[in-house]
Amino acid sequence: MTDYYRKKVHSDKIIATFDDALILPGYTYFNPNEVDISSNLGKYHFHLPIMSAAMDTVTEEEMAIKIALIGGLGVLHRNCSYEKQLEMVRHVKRARSFVIDDVATISPKEPVSKAKHFMESYNISGLVVVNDDNKVCGIFTKRDIPYLEEDCKKGLVEDFMTKKVVSIKSGASREEAMKLLFEHRIEKLPIIDDGQLKGLITTKDLKPEFPLASIDEEGRLLCALAISPKYPETNEAINKLKELDKFVDIFFVDVADFYKKDDIEGTKKLMDVLEADFVIGNIGTYEAAEFILTKCDYQENKFIGLKVGMGSGSICTTSIQTGVGAPTFYATAQVADAIADYNPKIGLIADGGFKNPGDLPKAFSAGADLIMSGHFFAGSTESPGFIDTIQGRKVKVYRGMGSTEARSAGFVSDRYSIDSITLAEGISGYLPYVGDLEAVITTLEEGLRNGMIYAGAKTIKDMKKAPLGIVSVVGQKEQGPHDLFGRY
Ligand code: XMP
Repeated sequence: MTDYYRKKVHSDKIIATFDDALILPGYTYFNPNEVDISSNLGKYHFHLPIMSAAMDTVTEEEMAIKIALIGGLGVLHRNCSYEKQLEMVRHVKRARSFVIDDVATISPKEPVSKAKHFMESYNISGLVVVNDDNKVCGIFTKRDIPYLEEDCKKGLVEDFMTKKVVSIKSGASREEAMKLLFEHRIEKLPIIDDGQLKGLITTKDLKPEFPLASIDEEGRLLCALAISPKYPETNEAINKLKELDKFVDIFFVDVADFYKKDDIEGTKKLMDVLEADFVIGNIGTYEAAEFILTKCDYQENKFIGLKVGMGSGSICTTSIQTGVGAPTFYATAQVADAIADYNPKIGLIADGGFKNPGDLPKAFSAGADLIMSGHFFAGSTESPGFIDTIQGRKVKVYRGMGSTEARSAGFVSDRYSIDSITLAEGISGYLPYVGDLEAVITTLEEGLRNGMIYAGAKTIKDMKKAPLGIVSVVGQKEQGPHDLFGRY
C-alpha cells in the first residue's frame, strides 16, 4: 500500500492544512519559461489547472466562459431552476466554436450586387450558394466579386461563384478540417451531408483568439455543471437532466459529503442514463476514496475524477457546526494515495481553502491534479452579482451554498443533509472587488510557476514528487511579514 503522500504530511493523525506546510526547495535544471502548468482530468487537457467553484456567487455563464477561454474550467452551480441551468449550459457551449451553425447563404439566381452588399453590411468574406432545397451549388467569396462595375450590377451569383466546392462531412475533426483548408489553400469549408448544408468551418475560427481555451473536439468551450446525486423520482425530471446532458461535458456531483450510501447509489443510476463524464465529491479520506474506487462499480469511461476537501472553504462552517471535516490539504494527500493504489487514471481536484497563491503548489505537492476555488474568484468582475460599496470600498457578496441566504433559493438543501434544514453550514459575507478574472488568474499562475521553479518541478507531475514538511508554530509565524514597526 502506498503511503508516499501521507508520509509527506507526516502522519494522518495530524490533520494538517496549507498554512501548516511548506515545500522544500529543489534543484532547478530548466529555464523559467519551460515550466508547464497544464494538467489532465480524464480525456480533458487543461492549460490552466484551475477551476472556479460551483457556487451561485462564483460561477454562472460569464465566469464559466472566461475561465474556459483562458485554459481552466468553471463549474456552473445548481442553486437555480432547470430553465436557468439550461440557459447557462447553452451559453457556454455556444460561446465559441470552429463550426458556424448559422451560415450566411445566397441563392445562385441573386444578383452579384446583392451578395456584395450582404457581405459588406455583415462584414463577412464569403457566402455559401444554395438552391431552393438547401443543396450547395457553389461558394461566393470576396475574391469572386467581378472587377467591372457593370458585371456587379447585371451579373448573377451563379455566373461568378466557384462551382467546385471543397467540403467536409459533419463530425470531422479540427485536424481534418485544417488539412483540407491548407491543401486547397482556401479559407472556407462548408460542412455538407448528402448535398445539404450543415455548417461552415473557416480558417479564422480554427485559429482562435484564445489558443489555450479548454475546448471539446468541435472547438466549443468545455461545459461543466453541478448536479445533485439524488436520482430524480419522475420521468419529467430525468428528461430535463437528459436535455442538460446534451450541452454538458462533465457533471460535478455536488454534495458536502459524498461518502453516503444513497449518494453513491444515486450517482450510479445517473451515470447509467447520462452521457457526460462525472467528477464525484466531496470526500476527505483514504477510506472513502478506496470504497468509491473499489466497491461502487462506476463506469470506467465516465467516472473521471474525485473532488476533495470538507470544511476548509472560506465561507464553510461545516467543521464547526458538525465537528466533522477534512481540510483540503489533508484530504488531497489521503485521496491521492488511494488513487495511486487503485486507479491512477482518476484525476484529483483539491477544492476550497486556498488563501494565497502559494497554496497552489502545496496542493499539487500533496497529490492534486487541479485545484478549485470560490474565494479567489467571487470578488472578480465575472462572478454573478453587483459591485457594492461599503465604507468607500468596492465589494461583492460571497456566500456558502450552505448559508441561510443560499438555501433560501430552495435548490441545494440536499447538498448537506436533508434532515438539517435549519442548520447553516456556511456564511454569507463580502469580498473586496478585485477587477477582471484574468488579473486574478495571472497572480495565481505566477505564484504557481515561481513555486514550481523554486521546488525544481518542471511539470505538475514533477510537483507531486516535491517534498514538503510541516512547519513549527513559530515557523508559521515567520512565513508572513514580521518584526516591522507598523505599516503592514
Ligand atoms: P473557498 O475556500 O474557495 O471554498 O471559499 C470553496 C468551496 O467550499 C465548499 N463550499 C462550502 N462548504 N459550507 C461548506 O462547508 C458551505 O456553505 C459551502 N459552500 C461551498 C465548496 O466545496 C466550494 O468549492
